[in-house]
This record gives sequence, structure tokens and C-alpha cells, in this order.
Amino acid sequence: MRDDTDFHGQAVLITGGASGIGWAAARAFAQRGAHVMVADLKEDTATGRASELGGGHRGIGGDVSNEAAVDRMVHATVEAFGRLDVLVNCAGLPDTFVPTVEQTRDHWQRLIDVHLTGTFLMAKRAAVEMIRHRHGVILNISSIAGTHALPRRNAYTAAKHGVVGLTKALACDWGQDGIRVNAIAPGYIRTPLVEGLIEQGKLDAKVIRRRTPMGALLSPDDVASAMLFLASPLARMITGTVVTVDGGYTAFGSPNDAAIIDD
Ligand SMILES: NC(=O)c1ccc[n+]([C@@H]2O[C@H](COP(=O)([O-])OP(=O)(O)OC[C@H]3O[C@@H](n4cnc5c(N)ncnc54)[C@H](O)[C@@H]3O)[C@@H](O)[C@H]2O)c1
Repeated sequence: MRDDTDFHGQAVLITGGASGIGWAAARAFAQRGAHVMVADLKEDTATGRASELGGGHRGIGGDVSNEAAVDRMVHATVEAFGRLDVLVNCAGLPDTFVPTVEQTRDHWQRLIDVHLTGTFLMAKRAAVEMIRHRHGVILNISSIAGTHALPRRNAYTAAKHGVVGLTKALACDWGQDGIRVNAIAPGYIRTPLVEGLIEQGKLDAKVIRRRTPMGALLSPDDVASAMLFLASPLARMITGTVVTVDGGYTAFGSPNDAAIIDD
């Protein structure tokens, strides 16, 4: 029987691929036979991660908000693997958690540049290759902040809502070009980004667990599993949608705790 999540021979480019959700995606696609290009801000970290995956994978440094770097990342993928089947837009950084009146324009702009403009630039450049072959999948990482407001995270909330809108626009734009574009909206995932916010006291893991019907923070692998599905032929008619991976967090509307936490 054919395995629909077999990606042998395919080329997958993952931004933010050196850490957290992007790194889980890199491992997941590599384990299923894909050639992975790990792209991240720091070149040495990206290439180190690629060698951890083993032969047949590459790493490259680059800032997704810089158009010349975006061009280099996509070009290097096609040059190395001869194709580009899947683009995963995972690069991201946290918001300041300050009241809006204290948010600097510079930080606001950086968040928009990386999350929203970076996703746009990467998708636009990747689509040039994908349209040529009338085949491709683009996965954008939104957030629960892409469907709901997170106070003190105005730029992050705006950028992640923007990613949802952009995903729908691109899916409709490229529907007849063989390119599917979907977003994933993760809840609270235990990654270095979230661990850092917990350590800084900006997030409380126990409060999050109580607020989550499934009673736990998620793992990066939970998000990678949704990516495998969306990139596979199982999802061949799914485009322009947002798949929520949050343990029920955004489904919950009661004022009470959603889960009983013992520890
Ligand atoms: N962790 C969560 O709970 C969670 C929830 C929802 C959405 N997300 C989103 O998932 C994505 C990945 O987050 P994570 O938690 O894995 O974070 P992470 O910090 O572990 O990884 C993010 C990676 O992106 C890279 N990066 C940052 N800016 C970049 C840029 N301009 N160009 C290229 N690479 C850049 C970083 O170097 C890092 O390796 C982000 O978009 C984040 O907003 C995370």
C-alpha cells in the first residue's frame, strides 16, 4: 500500500528551521525521505542542524524579511535539490509583552517584517519555482494569535492575523497553478521561544494548562504532524484554510478552567 506521507525525493525548504517548530518539521520531513533545506537567521546554526539530519540535507543563513536573502534561500534549494516541493514558513520571534502605548514602532515593524512580510516574500519567490512545475505546497505558521487577540502582543496578533489573510489570498491566487497554501495555528508549544517566555515570567505554564481542554502544552512534533498531513496527497483538495493545533484552547469559551491540573 502507498504511504501518503512518504516524501522521498521531494525538496522541503523550512525557514526558522534551526529551532522549535521548524526543527521538528525538518526532522519529520527528513525522516520521511525528503531533502531538507534548513534556513535560519544564523548560517552556522542552520548548517549544523542540516548535518544533524544526515547526508542529503543543507543549511543556509538568511533573514526572511530581506528580499535578497529570500532569493538566495530559494535559489540555493533549487540548485541543491533540483526542485522545491514544500515551503514551510516558520521563522518568527516573540512580541514585547508591553502595553500598546509603550510599544515602539521599531519593534512593531520588526514583528510585521518577519512574520507577515517574510511569509509574503518567501511564498512569492517560492511560487515562481512551483508555478513552473505546476506543483507545490506552502505552509504558513500563524498562531492562536491569528484568530484571537493576545493582549500586550499587539504586533504579534496583527501579524498572525495577517498571515491568515495572506494564506487565503495566496491559495485563491494560485489555486489553478497546482499550489496549495494553508496555515497552521498552533497553541502554546514547548519550544525555546515559549520556554524563554515562561522563564521570563511572561507566560505561566500552569495557567495555560488549566486553560487548555487537553490539559497540556503541546510539543513541536504535534505541529509537524499537521504539516505532514497538509503537505501530503491526503490533503490534495485542502487549500486556503487554517488548521488549529492547540489542544482545544480556542474552542473553549467558558469562564471556568478547562482542565483539572494536579501538579
Ligand atoms: N511556540 C509556540 O507556542 C508558537 C505558537 C504559535 C505560533 N508559533 C510560531 O511558530 C514559529 C516558530 O516558533 P518557535 O516557537 O519554534 O520559535 P523558536 O524561537 O524556537 O524558532 C524560531 C526560529 O526562527 C528563526 N528566525 C527568527 N527570525 C528570523 C528571520 N528574520 N529570518 C529567518 N529566521 C528567523 C530563529 O533564529 C529561530 O531559529 C513562529 O512563527 C512563532 O510565532 C509558535
